[in-house]
Amino acid sequence: MSEKTYPPSQEFAENAHIDAAKYDEMYAASIKDPEGFWAGHARDLDWIEPFTKVKNTSFKHGNVDIRWFEDGVLNVAANCIDRHLETRGDQTAIIFEPDDPEAAAQHITYKELHENVCRFANVLLSQGIMRGDRVVIYLPMIPEAAYAMLACARIGAVHSIVFAGFSADALANRINNSGAKVLITADEAPRGGRKTALKSNADAALLHCSDKVRCLVVKHTGGQTTWIQGRDIDLKAQMEQASPDCPARPMKAEDPLFILYTSGSTGQPKGVVHSSAGYLLYAGLTHKYDFDYHDGDVFWCTADVGWVTGHSYIIYGPLANGATTLMFEGVPTWPDASRFWQVCEKHKVNQFYTAPTAIRALMAQGKEPVEKCDLSALKLLGTVGEPINPEAWNWYNEVVGKGKLPIVDTWWQTETGGHLLTPLPGATATKPGSCTKPFFGIEPVILDATSGEEITETEAEGVLCIKDSWPGQMRTVYGDHERFEQTYFSDYKGYYFTGDGCRRDKDGYYWITGRVDDVINVSGHRMGTAEVESALVAHPDVAEAAVVGYPHDIKGQGIYAYVTVMNGVEETDALRKDLEKWVRSEIGPIAKPDIIQWAPGLPKTRSGKIMRRILRKIAENDFDTLGDTSTLADPAVVDDLIEKRKAQK
Ligand code: WT7
Repeated sequence: MSEKTYPPSQEFAENAHIDAAKYDEMYAASIKDPEGFWAGHARDLDWIEPFTKVKNTSFKHGNVDIRWFEDGVLNVAANCIDRHLETRGDQTAIIFEPDDPEAAAQHITYKELHENVCRFANVLLSQGIMRGDRVVIYLPMIPEAAYAMLACARIGAVHSIVFAGFSADALANRINNSGAKVLITADEAPRGGRKTALKSNADAALLHCSDKVRCLVVKHTGGQTTWIQGRDIDLKAQMEQASPDCPARPMKAEDPLFILYTSGSTGQPKGVVHSSAGYLLYAGLTHKYDFDYHDGDVFWCTADVGWVTGHSYIIYGPLANGATTLMFEGVPTWPDASRFWQVCEKHKVNQFYTAPTAIRALMAQGKEPVEKCDLSALKLLGTVGEPINPEAWNWYNEVVGKGKLPIVDTWWQTETGGHLLTPLPGATATKPGSCTKPFFGIEPVILDATSGEEITETEAEGVLCIKDSWPGQMRTVYGDHERFEQTYFSDYKGYYFTGDGCRRDKDGYYWITGRVDDVINVSGHRMGTAEVESALVAHPDVAEAAVVGYPHDIKGQGIYAYVTVMNGVEETDALRKDLEKWVRSEIGPIAKPDIIQWAPGLPKTRSGKIMRRILRKIAENDFDTLGDTSTLADPAVVDDLIEKRKAQK
């Protein structure tokens, strides 16, 4: 394999926080003495009561327990805001770029952020929200989303953001699972010139929730919504009346900061719980080092706050570092394919962080939309969410980076809180498609998938596990610690199991090969095949369904659904359309199958287990390596599926 490497330029390395020698030295120190390493960095946070204990963690199945700085007391919002007031009160904390390019951008200073967060926190307090209470946030990418998160942190409430693209049903599930007392939403979410009626989704969701749940509504577009007296509250009006002061509550290091639901290979989405101190420390440190963030830089992460990337690299990481962070309400391709680059030019963005799916979509539009914009402020490019194919990497490098900028391909997960495998831009020579090396304190291991043995040779391929804890690690699954242990610590005892396959090359570089469980990655968003299946079988015309991923040019993976209809039901295009609509309303637009194939029968073992391996191959149009089909109850179904797949184009 030809592996071109891209070392950092001498100039970049000289000005970077971390160069190659420093990386080696700090990495070795962080593994040899994790307590010393993390305590040293944690002391840079603002503590109300300093910690005396650093690390108290166990990965032992049956006894998984993760605590960092457990006797320390601090407040996350105070660390993200108040701490900076004296030195940078008038500096912009958040640049808000609205969906409509004609509408004015907002520059919110640290002082203004402080005032808005305090007012918001006082509104929450007036609704009876207390420390530990859960607050669900279902908002567009607007400043109020940042205020809401930080207001919760300020009073010790636990936020749980639900991506605005999820349906009313998905929202109701998350409100109920977390036992939230308040839902924060907006009238409408404008994106790409169209408006999603968030409030009416919220209304539909709340029909399935306790009538004690209050609904704080941001009047954002001014669009008309129904209004339920006594339940719905006009947030902006309340904020105007609220006091601009609200003391930050002292929180224990291990108090939960937020819950974020994510898909797994089985059942309902899991509520991933993150801590206060450890999470903040990890988000802040990875933001500073991995993007080589320097004071005065403008940082732009294009994710939505509804995903963990938005939590760690739009809000908590950047603000912990006193950065200027950009929040963008729109989409990359509206009004046209130059929007991202127009925004970079307009706000003189220095670090730009996006997903391979966006790069591929923009690559398809050619160079012109990029080249007409002035990108001279850019110093670094980043990617996240899925493996980046070399073509997309090269285009990003050449067309956007003009061959001069470091590209950081950051591998991590909702569960990890921040990057685990990533280049350090002043230190690491990159290879297109590889997320390169571990961050400080991270001990990746590759295990043989069947024996579970650690492969100690440098060159290795198997499943990716992590040997020991780091501060940003999730602490539990909300309300179900057993599921936490079962999911991450039971297949390979003593390790954190990531669910990813991985290869390590002769230089010790890591290459993620994709999920090894029944999770697919659609446009950088994680989707459980089981979730889509259960949505499909809930339709009255569907007897059975099996969902797998298949390679998709733009999305990375697409959703391929095999559907068996009920006896007597006709396999029509109208039904296909209806099923698409059905899945959208059960989960959300991101779960809509790209291809639905009618399957009179599914390949099953004699014990009735669906053989997904075969379904995956057929979806991939790979009919020659189906493997052993002799254990199938009825091998003929495979031929039938292949015929139908071939007819599909
Ligand atoms: C899964 C986690 C972490 C923020 C976005 C997704 C895949 C993530 C990379 C990368 C290859 C990647 C993995 C991982 N993934 N980043 N740089 N290269 N694969 O978060 O929804 O929790 O998904 O995304 O498969 O397990 P998530």
